[in-house]
Parts: sequence; C-alpha cells; structure tokens
Amino acid sequence: MVDVDKVLDEAGLTNPHVREYVKEWAAITTPDRIEVVSAADDARLIQESLDAGEIEPAGEGLYYSRSYYKDTARSEERTIVATNKPSDKGAYNNWRPADEMKPIMLERMKGASAGKTMYVVPYLMAPPGSPLEAYAAGVELTDHRTVVLHMIRMARVGIDLIDNLADPDSFVRAVHVTGDLPNLGQGTPEDERYFVTVADERTILHYGSSYGGNALLGKIAHGLRQASYDGWASGKFLAEQFMLLGITDKQTGKKYHICGGFPSASGKTNLAMTLAPDALGDRYYVEFYGDDIAWLWVGEDGKLYGMNPENGVFGVAKDTNELTNPTALDSIQPGTQALFTNVAYNEKTHEVWWEGKTKNPPADLDGWRDWKGSLIAERTPEDQNEPWAHPNSRFTTALSNVPNVASDYDDPKGVPIDGIIFGGRTRDREPLIRAIDDIAEGVYDGLTLGAEATFAAEGVEGQLRYDPMSMRPFMSYAEGAYAAHWLKIIGQATEKPVFAHVNWFQRDAEDGHFLWPGYRENLRPLLWLMQYKNGEVTGRKTPVGVLPTEEELDLSGLDLPQEDLDRILTIDVERWRQEMGFREEHLKQFDGLPEEIWEAHRRVAKALEDEA
Ligand code: GDP
Ligand code: PGA
Ligand code: MN
Ligand code: MN
Repeated sequence: MVDVDKVLDEAGLTNPHVREYVKEWAAITTPDRIEVVSAADDARLIQESLDAGEIEPAGEGLYYSRSYYKDTARSEERTIVATNKPSDKGAYNNWRPADEMKPIMLERMKGASAGKTMYVVPYLMAPPGSPLEAYAAGVELTDHRTVVLHMIRMARVGIDLIDNLADPDSFVRAVHVTGDLPNLGQGTPEDERYFVTVADERTILHYGSSYGGNALLGKIAHGLRQASYDGWASGKFLAEQFMLLGITDKQTGKKYHICGGFPSASGKTNLAMTLAPDALGDRYYVEFYGDDIAWLWVGEDGKLYGMNPENGVFGVAKDTNELTNPTALDSIQPGTQALFTNVAYNEKTHEVWWEGKTKNPPADLDGWRDWKGSLIAERTPEDQNEPWAHPNSRFTTALSNVPNVASDYDDPKGVPIDGIIFGGRTRDREPLIRAIDDIAEGVYDGLTLGAEATFAAEGVEGQLRYDPMSMRPFMSYAEGAYAAHWLKIIGQATEKPVFAHVNWFQRDAEDGHFLWPGYRENLRPLLWLMQYKNGEVTGRKTPVGVLPTEEELDLSGLDLPQEDLDRILTIDVERWRQEMGFREEHLKQFDGLPEEIWEAHRRVAKALEDEA
C-alpha cells in the first residue's frame, strides 16, 4: 500500500478535498506508486517514457507513440452520460442512471492499476483568471504515462492551479484506468470498456483505453461533456466543439472573431490554423485561438465572449502538408516537444510519415513500420494498399508552438464573438456558405447539422447523420433543454453574432472531386460573411439563408471551373425540400424542443415550398 499522505506532502499538494479524492481512488485501483505531476516534470517523464520504450524519438525534441491497434479512436457506443435525473436523458447522450453505472465502474477499476503508477494530474481548462475558472479545475488520475505527456501538452497542468481554488472542493474528479488493452473485447458483445461522465456529480470514470479522445479527460470529457452540463446547470455558459479564430482587417483596423463547430475530423483544426491571408494581398491577418473547444458566455458588458479552454492542439495528421497546412507543420518542427500517435515510423531514421504528408510514401522502405508496428517491407501483396498511418493518427503540440497563435490567446477576458458557423462533410446540398441573421434560425441550423461521420469515431465512417452543433458525441443533457439554453445565452447578448453554415466538401457527382479548393482558401467565404454582417455586401437571399454572389466573393488568384462555382453558390431546391422531411423526423426525437425552433423549421420549409 502506498503511503498517500507522504506522497502528497512531499509534492506539496495541500487541498484537503483533492487529498481525500486521491486517497479514495488509490484504495480502489491499488497502484504500486503514486506521483503528482506538473508541467515542469515533462522532460523527466519524456526521458522515462523513452527509457521504458513507451515512446520513440522522432527527431530532435519530437516523439512517436503507438496506441494499441484496437484503440485508435473515440468509442461513441461505449460512452455514457450518467446522472441522477432521468430527465437528463437525451436522444444522443446514452444516458444511464448514476446508480447503475457507478458500481459497474468501481468493479472494473478495482485493483486495475496494480503494478502501475497512478499519476495525479491537476489541470485547469481555462486561462487562469477566467470568469469561468470555477468550472475549469480538475484532477485526472491516470495509470498511463503517455496520457500524462498528452495532458501536459493539451491542458494547463500544475499543483498551483488547484491548490488555491476559491472553492477548494470545486474540481472535476477525473479517473482514468487503462485496463488490460489486449483483453477488453473491443468492438465485440463482451466489450469491457466504459467511458462515463457522471455529470451531476462532476465525476468522470473512463476505463479501457489509452487513446487521446478517450483518455485525455481534461479535453473531451471535462472540456465538452462536463462543461456543457455545468454551463447549462449554472445557466452561465455554453461549451461547444468549436474552433475559434481572429481576422484583422489592417485597412479598417477592425478585428473579427469567428467560432464554429464541424464534427470531429471535418476541418476545425485546419480552418483555425491555416487560412491564407497572403493570397489576398496584404490586407488581413489571421490568428489562431483554438481548434476543438470553445466556451462561450455573455460578459458584464452584454457582449458574447469566447475562449479556448485548451492549451494545445490534438490534430489529425492525414493530409497535413506544405500546401494544405504549413502552419501545422511549423508547429510540429524539431524542438517543439510534439508527440505523434499512430502515424508510420522509421525505426532507423526516426522519421514519421502519414498519408498526404508527401504525394507518395518514402521510396526506400528500409526501417519503416506502419501504425500497427508491422514492417512495410514485409507486407504481403494483399496488404500493399493498406494505409501506412491510421486515418485517425494525430499530432499533439502546445498552443505556444503555433506560429500564428493570437497574442491574447490566454487572456482570461476571452474575445468578443462576431460569427458562429456550422459545417461538416456534406457531399451535396450544402452550398459553400449561407449566412443566417435570425438567432432562432441559426440555432435551428446548428441543431440540424447533417454530415458524414468520420474515422475519429470507431465504426461510423461515411455514415450520413445529424450531429447537432457537432456535439452529438459530447451531448450531456437533453437536446430540448440544450436548444433552450442556446437561445437563452445568445438571446442575452446585446450584440448578436451572425450565423452561417459552411461546406468545404461538396463533390462532383461524377468523378467525386471537391468542388471548392478548401484549406487555406476558406478565408474567402469568412471574409464575405463579415462583410455581410457589416452591410457591405447584400448577397442573394434564398429560403435557407443568404448566399454570396460570384462578384461579392473574393476569388482573385483562384482558377475554378465555372460549373463548380455555380454549384457551390446555388441551392438545389428539390433536394432541400426533401431534406426538410428528414429534419422534421430528427427534431421530433427531442422532447421539449422550444417552439422558436419549430417556428424556424416551419419558416424555412414554407420558404422552400414557395420557391419557384
Ligand atoms: P477537425 O478534426 O475537425 O479538427 O479536422 P481537421 O482540420 O483535422 O481535418 C480533418 C481532415 O479533413 C484532415 O485530413 C484534413 O486534411 C481534411 N480537411 C480539412 N480542411 C479541409 C478542406 O477545407 N478541404 C478538404 N478537402 N479537406 C479538408
Ligand atoms: P477533432 O478532435 O475534432 O479535432 O477530431 C478530437 C475528437 O473530437 O475526437
Ligand atoms: Mn473534437
Ligand atoms: Mn481538430
């Protein structure tokens, strides 16, 4: 038995509630050692992980890790929100009674860290001093060292962050136990894994994975599920799967902040990181604030504010290259202490590679292993076409490594929000951009976000499905209440943001090519949106929002086929009429959906019917 008091005394951890919590869980999971971690321990932990063979060097100050091959993405099926209130049950949150899930988790976690070290990771999901700081503190207990390395990059980590809380008991209890990965029956009827957020007890219990999306509890379970529940229960804020960026118009001196949600692996990181102002003369510059989570609230001045609670980027590697996202490559340069997970790795040269990093994979196969650890040179003919990297392979790097990170990215004040956009992978129907002025119609648009699911979750790739506000996998309470909370928060703002729906992924029906070049060019429709908000352009009204005209959209330097341009700047009224029926079925699943949302739905449906 570890002498927990002695360990905590030596670490200088004084918060009595945290001490109590560590003791309680140490007695359950029975680790051999306990260690309290701060960001300053990173270099030592990296060295220990290298020595133990848990990570490999990938160049100067860069590291490579592989997660178990059946553990490479979030599992939506095994993810559960448990509370003590049956009314929290929603269409998507896999709600279960807290009383039912807690004993199950206790049973699984009992003795499950034996032989391992339990790391105590105190973290803050906010810049210190944030008005939402009371909801941001947490302590992750994890028995996996690579998870600690990720937490240090993705969150603010340190004892001081939780030792002086205004309310010392107000921190999220986040317990992560890895379990015996080769024997958990992943994806079978005997699946042992469970990822549970006991939202009304501010307790997170995750068992059976070391993959970031399941195991970095500060990020997804706290930053999204727990925080959205807290935001609603307190009536104070929204926590959304949103990127956040700033655009400064040097000519007018105005700065705009846009946030928005696309489902996982649908372009948030790229949009926030890599817009290309250089393509449009010297007029704009674009700053990065966040790529996956934003918390939004109304400030004392009545404005809507947003901030990124994270401290790093957990980005999809696939297709990241000099053309698509040079900023991302800069942020994972030698010396950045970035980690790569499940990409291909050369054990001799220590290089990494993923599909789309270069046009062709390295010609010399010597030393290359794929994401499962198999030598590429020894592949059988039938395996030749298998990807080298897992499609959901990732890079993890601190925000401070991102070259265009905003100078005020950790200002606790947050930034005023001018626009909220929704989007996703939609191969038809959705135009490049449609602006929506009305708040209820904007919220309605978010609630009816329909897109193709991606490899960021197990077993759903390519499925067309509704993903409200891109929060489907993170929804923690009932959707009707969620919609009402959105209307309330945005309704309180004295200056309303403009809403828009965007789509970078419309494809040609015949050869499947993307109709819009995307990536760095996505700045163009966003600039149009801000001009629209300012009344500088009027666009063209359609039943589903205002679309830019070809003249209004800055297309300088782009060489797009006219027919592609026509397609992305028009709507297919027939297809949209059909869509309205699906939306109605989708919305009917939500108990207590506010009447304003139904009115918005009927307005759009009627406008489509009236359209010639
Ligand atoms: P996130 O998971 O929402 O942050 O999405 P990412 O920005 O990481 O992108 C996920 C995948 O979509 C990556 O493979 C990107 O290369 C690809 N992607 C991102 N933006 C675009 C775009 O504008 N056009 C196209 N065609 N692909 C994109
Ligand atoms: P993503 O983040 O949205 O950038 O893919 C991780 C996730 O949502 O699983
Ligand atoms: Mn995400
Ligand atoms: Mn991302």
